[in-house]
Amino acid sequence: MSENRRMVVTSALPYANGDIHIGHLVEYLQTDFWVRFQNMRGHACVYVCADDTHGTPIMVRARNEGITPEALVARSHEQHVRDFTDFEVAFNHYGSTNCEENRAFSNRIFARMESGGHVSSRLVPQLYCEHDGMFLPDRFVKGACPACGALGQYGDSCDTCGATYAAEELKAPACTICGRPPVTRDSEHLFFEIDHFRDYLRDWIPAHTAKDVANKLLEWFGESLRGWDISRDKPYFGFEIPGHPGKFFYVWVDAPIGYMASLENWCKQNHARFDDWWNNPDVELFHFIGKDIVRFHCLFWPAMLACGGFKGPDQVFVHGFLTVNGEKMSKSKGTFISARTFLDHVEAQTLRFYYACKLNGTTDDVDLNFDDFINRVNSDLVGKITNLASRGAQMLHKHLNGRVGVCDAAGAELLAHAQGRADAIADAYEKRDFARVMVEVRDLADRANQYVDVQAPWALIKRDPEAARCVLTATLNLFRTLAIYLKPILPGYAAKVETLFGEPPYVWTDARTRVENRTIAPYAYLATRVEREPIDRMIEASRSHTPAPTPPQTPTLPHSHTPTLPHSHTPTPPAKPSAAPAVIPFETFAQTDLRVARVLSAETVEGSDKLLRLMLDLGDGKPRQVFSGIRKAYAPESLVGRSVVAVANLAPRKMRFGVSEGMVLAASNPDGTLFLVTPDPGAAPGASVA
Ligand code: MSP
Ligand code: ZN
Repeated sequence: MSENRRMVVTSALPYANGDIHIGHLVEYLQTDFWVRFQNMRGHACVYVCADDTHGTPIMVRARNEGITPEALVARSHEQHVRDFTDFEVAFNHYGSTNCEENRAFSNRIFARMESGGHVSSRLVPQLYCEHDGMFLPDRFVKGACPACGALGQYGDSCDTCGATYAAEELKAPACTICGRPPVTRDSEHLFFEIDHFRDYLRDWIPAHTAKDVANKLLEWFGESLRGWDISRDKPYFGFEIPGHPGKFFYVWVDAPIGYMASLENWCKQNHARFDDWWNNPDVELFHFIGKDIVRFHCLFWPAMLACGGFKGPDQVFVHGFLTVNGEKMSKSKGTFISARTFLDHVEAQTLRFYYACKLNGTTDDVDLNFDDFINRVNSDLVGKITNLASRGAQMLHKHLNGRVGVCDAAGAELLAHAQGRADAIADAYEKRDFARVMVEVRDLADRANQYVDVQAPWALIKRDPEAARCVLTATLNLFRTLAIYLKPILPGYAAKVETLFGEPPYVWTDARTRVENRTIAPYAYLATRVEREPIDRMIEASRSHTPAPTPPQTPTLPHSHTPTLPHSHTPTPPAKPSAAPAVIPFETFAQTDLRVARVLSAETVEGSDKLLRLMLDLGDGKPRQVFSGIRKAYAPESLVGRSVVAVANLAPRKMRFGVSEGMVLAASNPDGTLFLVTPDPGAAPGASVA
């Protein structure tokens, strides 16, 4: 083991715009394993992270919720911190990119970019929504793919044919916020001329990333590296660029700089100096990231740092993506599971344990298979490992005054073997090959269980209690060694083992020692089996859980927002249609403007498993966007061209996905199945319904 190292370690900054989910946790848990391991080895390892707060999605979402972006960011921060704490992810500092330290670093790096002649400005045509008064990022425009014509495609690429294109190339584009067609406008943008750093990066990349990652990146070096667009126009939630009024740093500029800001904040709280930690050749810097954000971390980021006169990362560790039961996480399958929903049903340490079994330090995707998950936790964590302690300690307390003696010869030999694996296990940790750690630990647990089976202390105790005490002493010491090896992965569990043996917090070298001739604490709960049932409930809860403001469906008016028929009673949630609906005067009902409408287009809404986005023709030449909760009942294609009945004078309602400008009528059977109300053929769009 090399002498004491100092390190700064980061995980990518999660967007403040959403919940932490089990996909994110692939990253935060593995980083936490590694950091805890380093600290246990006696190194000084500082783990910083933050919320990534800037950009259009957060601005739009806050606007839809009628709150400030700052309020939204504060709420997310609180939730994220709670989720991470409950998953035992121990940051030294968890900050926010929306802080003055980050602004200062961003300005400083930009000033160096500009003064070094690495920034140029060019006119860029972009889609602009005159109604919302803003330029639309690619994900805020939808239209028909210019290559294959598929409807409902985003402004960057087509889900159907895979084509990539510029947003202005979309056919019949619509703003996803208001549904109106945008216009194309030119705007001055600032570009970071990354090609100036080409030679630097060509050397840097292979030295600081894994082979497969480097090879992929270097493929782009055949031609010149295109300038990176680092500015966005107002309105934008972010930092205004000094000297460029109305221009803001693109979120991906100040996001990685947020690593520095978070470290700076940690330094302030710990009487340390930033330059001693970041700009110090004796301190190593490591980033953990997912494979989707390699370009930002291994191309733009090292160039920005070099340009700004800051030290770059020593290594960027790239991991793969989470799949669940072999497939992409999916809201409709209930496998898009938030950290909180997981915690509501299953113990956090089981996911830590399972991810460790699966993570091997490569960019391979990680599959969470729930059958395998149950099996690993029950057979290995509980059956092989924890049982050593629960049976051993309970027997010791019941029959032998809770006092360990000395190990017998066979047990001592086995213990020596287990202790001898410390370097191999540490090597696996160092390489982030947590799966190999687990293989080692499992092997040691198997040997320990064989030993217990052969010695049969439960029988021995009747013939020769002192011999049994020796066997239990060895068993418990074997268990203790495993708990020390597992501590980076199961810190809470290890803390209880420390209590069991009455010891101070374990460090790596404690695996060399043993506990003999003393009384230990009574066994306290460490881990239990996971059952299928709470997992099924968790999946069910994730399936029904849409973060969208989708109120319960009313019996007769399925649609996205609370039906506000004038003076109607507050809608009672479904189940049984209520017995006695409130009586309303005819005049009230007559205020409702019901019209025949033709469905021009229908598409699913990303992020909602209930809604379809409909464009309706009400005969007035002004297509209307309506969100309707009929996705379960109708395939979008089946609706195009069909006539429905719409409420035409409903106040427009801003939703997370855009504005709903009305609703369509549908009947709902007692079992919840839905049927659109359709006029007989011949009724023209716009015909009034009464
Ligand atoms: N905000 C950016 C990162 C800025 S870093 C300067 C971002 N945020 S994110 O919330 O989308 O993702 C945060 C991290 O979680 C990324 O490293 C990403 O790769 C990782 N993951 C997000 N979803 C994931 C899976 N489904 N599976 C594995 N990792 C995933 O990107
Ligand atoms: Zn708009």
